Amino acid sequence: MKGLIKEAEDFLDEVKDDDVKNAGMIAEAQRVEHYEISGYGTAVRYAKELGHDAIAKKLQKTLDEEYNADKKLNDLAEKRLNDKAK
Ligand SMILES: [Fe+2]
Repeated sequence: MKGLIKEAEDFLDEVKDDDVKNAGMIAEAQRVEHYEISGYGTAVRYAKELGHDAIAKKLQKTLDEEYNADKKLNDLAEKRLNDKAK
């Protein structure tokens, strides 16, 4: 996660155009969401494998929230920010 944050900071230092910055930050935020999806997805699987169904259910709820956040970021990029950045 520290590496992803560093990557985003480096991006912001390199880019001057605000529209390109906005589009790029959406991409950086999606990288974070994908990292979280990977982690929570694994945790859900492990909880199920170990028979911890209540924990798996709670983790699944968080995983679903991460997917939803990624979808919202994707919609934002597709509908508005990427066009401005062109
Ligand atoms: Fe997230």
